[in-house]
Amino acid sequence: MNVCITGGAGFIGSHTVSACLKAGHTVSVIDNLSHGFKDNIPSGVSFYNADIRDVTVLEKVKKEQNPEALIHLAAQISVPDSLKKPEETFAINTEATKLLLDILKPQKVVFASSGGAIYGDPEVIPTPEDSPLMPTSPYGESKKRAEVILNEYFHANKQAAVTLLRYANVYGPHQPHDGGGVVAIICKALKDDEEFILNGDGNQTRDFVYVEDIVKANLKALDQSAQYEIFNIGTGGETQLNNVIKMLQGVSRKALTITQEKTQDEVVRSVLNSDKAKEWGWSSSVSIEDGLAKTWEWWSEKKSKH
Ligand SMILES: NC(=O)c1ccc[n+]([C@@H]2O[C@H](COP(=O)([O-])OP(=O)(O)OC[C@H]3O[C@@H](n4cnc5c(N)ncnc54)[C@H](O)[C@@H]3O)[C@@H](O)[C@H]2O)c1
Repeated sequence: MNVCITGGAGFIGSHTVSACLKAGHTVSVIDNLSHGFKDNIPSGVSFYNADIRDVTVLEKVKKEQNPEALIHLAAQISVPDSLKKPEETFAINTEATKLLLDILKPQKVVFASSGGAIYGDPEVIPTPEDSPLMPTSPYGESKKRAEVILNEYFHANKQAAVTLLRYANVYGPHQPHDGGGVVAIICKALKDDEEFILNGDGNQTRDFVYVEDIVKANLKALDQSAQYEIFNIGTGGETQLNNVIKMLQGVSRKALTITQEKTQDEVVRSVLNSDKAKEWGWSSSVSIEDGLAKTWEWWSEKKSKH
């Protein structure tokens, strides 16, 4: 299959690109390197160093690649930045999603939505797909609006396979420490002997899912035929941040310097109900212990700054 991956130079994107190449797909990437790295992209990929809002480039990709499938991962991913620059966040995360669909007209679409941000502070935990969508940030709202655009695309193209994946808290190698991913932030602090700012008491829980499991879901979604489906992609397991800290200190054999900060806006419990994905044939297979060990191994070996 000819697959175009937006955000392919980023954390989840780079792993997805490698897995698509391994599966024998032809891959093109659109990424403006605003939060990704060229050396994350393996050879054998047609790389467009461009913004997904650039219509001329999208038309060029259509002409040169005519991709059958689009895995749409490029986004402004920072919640604090979305509060500072909501307009830009909507332009990148929502409006550019429409541009990509209108110009590329893919038969298959896989969209990276956010289970952590789209439900807000949910009443039902673990949270299923049919819970009310009550995002508390422009970032979450931008994903909610993009989901509407994807729904409209499917209704206008009923032969298309449109799969929305609401990821839980993803972690693993290649995750930058400046994107809000707490595992990467802790690993960076441990590696460089820096202070870690802990928001709250550390008893907050998250559904941490290893990046390889996310990639498995992205590739599985490429096998779908005409459908519109939404799946939560998480482990269903709840891990306290304090436990993550303990496990990372264990595998790194280092002590973390922690400064606790009071916070008002931290969601206390966040865990997705991913039973629907299990029925679909996807489930997570990497335990939190193994995932954190593999992530630390990458951090401890990595030489580059990112
Ligand atoms: N990491 C998580 O825990 C998580 C959870 C839920 C959803 N997601 C979603 O998964 C997707 C990938 O996230 P990630 O963690 O790999 O983030 P990332 O920042 O590592 O990757 C995003 C990539 O998109 C690129 N990009 C950003 N704006 C762009 C633009 N205007 N034009 C072209 N390229 C642009 C960046 O350079 C980067 O390489 C995002 O859509 C994110 O919202 C991530």
